[in-house]
Amino acid sequence: MKTRITELFGIEHPIIQGGMHFVGLAELAAAVSNAGGLGIITGLTQRTPELLANEIARCREMTDKPFGVNLTFLPSVTPPDYPGYVQAIIDGGVKIVETAGNNPQKWLPALKENGIKVIHKCTSVRHSLKAESIGCDAISVDGFECGGHPGEDDVPNFILLPRAAEELKIPFVASGGMADARSLVAALALGAEGMNMGTRFMATREAPIHENVKLAIVAASELDTRLVMRSLRNTERVLTNAGVERLIEKEKTLGSGLKFEDIIAEVAGVYPAIMQRGEMDAGAWSCGMVVGLIHDIPTCKELIEGIVTGAEQIVRQRLERMFPQTAAAMA
Ligand SMILES: Cc1cc2nc3c(=O)[nH]c(=O)nc-3n(C[C@H](O)[C@H](O)[C@H](O)COP(=O)(O)O)c2cc1C
Repeated sequence: MKTRITELFGIEHPIIQGGMHFVGLAELAAAVSNAGGLGIITGLTQRTPELLANEIARCREMTDKPFGVNLTFLPSVTPPDYPGYVQAIIDGGVKIVETAGNNPQKWLPALKENGIKVIHKCTSVRHSLKAESIGCDAISVDGFECGGHPGEDDVPNFILLPRAAEELKIPFVASGGMADARSLVAALALGAEGMNMGTRFMATREAPIHENVKLAIVAASELDTRLVMRSLRNTERVLTNAGVERLIEKEKTLGSGLKFEDIIAEVAGVYPAIMQRGEMDAGAWSCGMVVGLIHDIPTCKELIEGIVTGAEQIVRQRLERMFPQTAAAMA
């Protein structure tokens, strides 16, 4: 396939694996990139810039294709060593960065001077336009369906993507709710130049996470995600479990008086417990509604090639046949 996104990033297929805490390690990023997509290492999962540098080096040993690093900018009392992480990315020769969370403006000059392309993840048209105006190269437009932080506007991709297409000049990918060939064709039809997937890539053979997580994803339906932390304006879509139901009870009881400290047990330290030890009731971990469309655990190559060949079939067979007169006129 050829789209503005494959051209921008020098990749074969317009399919990106979004940054995922404790999931986006070198193994997954390399597998996605080797399959012709764009794999992304999650920067902050590495506790220090030195560890990120090691992870980048490990990924380079596993692939000679382009891969990226995710940098998530969250409000924090003691912020991570962002200058150190940016330097590790530059020194590691990485040419693509996925930014998310707060405005990445402060870091753009250093990234741009080193020839790094930046794709910023946004959950609204206004943030996408802001990212375009400060010089980001592309946007990952993340709809309300998405796993992780959908923002506070609650606009699903059927509206958000065409709205982005109406306003943006730089290319964008559809993120949130994407799983298969149908998603890719729909995303392209709505104006995107490709798609970004999180949850779907967790249920792949190469995802370096506990088998329990993959099985939970395959078992879950589209009704099994919950939104938590809305009253803290830090809304997150997660897969439900005993820890999450406890969190929701606290939210109901404490109402607008809820403070982050009240839910620390259900949100802090959950990722290693879930992803590494497979303790499925540990608490809140990001998961998209798309979980209802995930029924198997393929390799990244099987997944990506299946999406691309399936998309071509949908366009050339199913959709083409819906316009018989045009097809006849062209014959
Ligand atoms: C387990 C998990 C962890 C995530 N961690 C991050 C993260 O650290 N930074 C980030 O920008 N996005 C993160 N995301 C969001 C994904 O990059 C992606 O935008 C999202 O999963 C897309 O929605 P989908 O799950 O419906 O495909 C995470 C998503 C999941 C499922």
